[in-house]
Amino acid sequence: MLENKQGRDRFLTYTNDNGVMTRPIWTLMNKLNMFSNCPAMNLDNSQWLEDRVVNVPSSAILKCAIFTYLTPEASLRKFFLIHDINGAERKYNFAGFIDMKPASSSMSIGELQCPILDEETFFNSPAAKESSFALGMGNTKVLNKINQRYVPGYDFPNLVHPSFSGYRATIAMGKGNVVTAGCIFTLDIKIGNLNLFNMHTTLGHDSVIGDCNVFNPGVDLSEGIEIGDRNLFGTNCSVLQYVKIGSDNAIGAGAMVNRDIGNFKVSVGGAGKSDCD
Ligand SMILES: CC(C)(COP(=O)(O)OP(=O)(O)OC[C@H]1O[C@@H](n2cnc3c(N)ncnc32)[C@H](O)[C@@H]1OP(=O)(O)O)[C@@H](O)C(=O)NCCC(=O)NCCS
Repeated sequence: MLENKQGRDRFLTYTNDNGVMTRPIWTLMNKLNMFSNCPAMNLDNSQWLEDRVVNVPSSAILKCAIFTYLTPEASLRKFFLIHDINGAERKYNFAGFIDMKPASSSMSIGELQCPILDEETFFNSPAAKESSFALGMGNTKVLNKINQRYVPGYDFPNLVHPSFSGYRATIAMGKGNVVTAGCIFTLDIKIGNLNLFNMHTTLGHDSVIGDCNVFNPGVDLSEGIEIGDRNLFGTNCSVLQYVKIGSDNAIGAGAMVNRDIGNFKVSVGGAGKSDCD
């Protein structure tokens, strides 16, 4: 409780400017438009409280920064993922985008001005240890770099869109996976670190997925599949049941993979032709 209304307003401005989401306790109901013509008793005490009481966050809200090494625009889907997660239950304050050598210091998204942080400067600042990080790009080599350099020492929560459907108690995820809107997994699934499941990816039961794979929108993964690390799955490709895929492959958009693929292959077209090294 603050001393008076001016003190309350100064406190609200200061805390919100510094990333702590405080708010006034309430607006008295007799001041709401819909009750403006209703009778009200003497509310001096209530008014006294309204002028002084503030709500402070009761749980820690993490700052979250998004890695992007291409253009921040390419990371918008992850920005909206955080936005949607916060809509269901406020968990993250958005700290900004991280880039290697940012061309500008901010980007506007609607009315928001979002900072673009220089990677080296940011990781040399104390803010890095207090932040959480999310992937913003689908380049498997860059994901691999982040997995090796930053995942062991920093917080990489699994970000799962509220629309996700799956039997979560039986789905084991490592760190830093991003599951965007409309993904459906079933059960008994093991997933490593830093995989990016773009919109409407489906994943069947008893499957195992390694690290740093990128699944573009609409990828359909049947049950019992095994996937290694750093593979790119083009949009709308399908992998049939019990197929094993190694590491560092590119599966073309729309491909149908019905037999095992080793490593370092490009596979396009029907019936999974792994035809290029
Ligand atoms: C498979 C892929 C990685 C190959 O990329 P690339 O090595 O640069 O290959 P190129 O574009 O040089 O194409 C090589 C040949 O494969 C063919 N090809 C490429 N992708 C194909 C696909 N998905 N299905 C069928 N044929 C394909 C090309 O037509 C070309 O054939 P040609 O030599 O007879 O002309 C890429 O085409 C792809 O499908 N990427 C996924 C894209 C995606 O999902 N986008 C959505 C982003 S959200």
